[in-house]
Amino acid sequence: MKNRRPRRRSALIRPLAIVLALFVLGLTYAALQPATQSMADGSKDQIAAGKALFTQNCSSCHGLNGEGTSQAPSLIGVGSAAVDFQVGTGRMPMANQGQQAPRKAGTYTSDETAQLAAYVASLGTGTSTPDSGQYNPAGLTDEEIARGGELFRSNCSACHNFEGAGGALPEGVSAPSLQGVEAIHIWEAMRTGPGQMPVFGQNTITDEDARAIIGYLTSVEAEPSGGLSLGGIGPVSEGFWGFIIGIGGLSLFAVWIAAKGARAK
Ligand code: HEC
Ligand code: HEC
Repeated sequence: MKNRRPRRRSALIRPLAIVLALFVLGLTYAALQPATQSMADGSKDQIAAGKALFTQNCSSCHGLNGEGTSQAPSLIGVGSAAVDFQVGTGRMPMANQGQQAPRKAGTYTSDETAQLAAYVASLGTGTSTPDSGQYNPAGLTDEEIARGGELFRSNCSACHNFEGAGGALPEGVSAPSLQGVEAIHIWEAMRTGPGQMPVFGQNTITDEDARAIIGYLTSVEAEPSGGLSLGGIGPVSEGFWGFIIGIGGLSLFAVWIAAKGARAK
């Protein structure tokens, strides 16, 4: 009877230590993780910085207050998502007037893009940049991805080809290949309809459908060699929490069984 006590205490300490270790690990990870904030409502500073960038680089075509000119459309009410897409894919600032602004290497950092987006969003309500939960395809089931493929074939393949390889449209316009396009930009393209592409609103394609389509497109291009861009840090963090909760739970369960077993002896 006497020697029972220490053993029971150690049976309690072990699971506590595991929980604590996992917790510290999780906190460290969260602290190291860059904030993936929505750019929808920029701070005053962000908007002011965005206005300065805009005046310098965009106003010659879009007007001093984004009201539009004969060169370029008004940006009032297009929202931060359109800016994040256009600037993030390097389409804007447009280098020279043409049929279509081509995708090119971006000239702005993500901070500057966010500032421009915040400024344009301040001009009028529009579609905001999405949160990672809206576009990140991590965790979709095979059925959902298959449904994404069906949605893609019925809504997008007429222009973008069956596997998103792209294709020519009338009047010298082309629908680009969708390979290697970041998940967030696919979402933003659907919601903002760049160039000749129609806008796909919530009524046509729900957020769930949008994620399924993104899941399909990223699975089509998935190759062991990589090049798959799942939209940054999202899938890692989800996987990581799955790991913590999954392994953590299993360890606790194992310890509990061991402790019960010891007591039963
Ligand atoms: C040389 C002229 C030019 C410059 C400079 C320019 N744009 Fe544009 N922009 C255009 C044109 C033309 C369109 C329409 C393109 C289209 O429909 O494909 C456009 C479209 C856009 C759109 C899409 C609007 C919508 O309705 O979805 C956004 C957002 C945008 N520009 C932001 C910017 C920002 C931000 C800058 C500065 C960093 C900028 N543009 C610089 C000519 C310009
Ligand atoms: C009517 C033809 C048409 C349809 C339908 C269409 N698109 Fe597009 N899409 C375009 C064109 C044209 C562009 C290029 C716009 C530009 O460069 O300004 C584009 C651009 C894109 C881009 C940006 C790619 C890049 O290189 O940055 C994505 C992503 C995209 N489309 C996804 C979709 C998805 C997903 C659907 C279906 C829900 C769809 N599109 C339906 C014509 C279409």
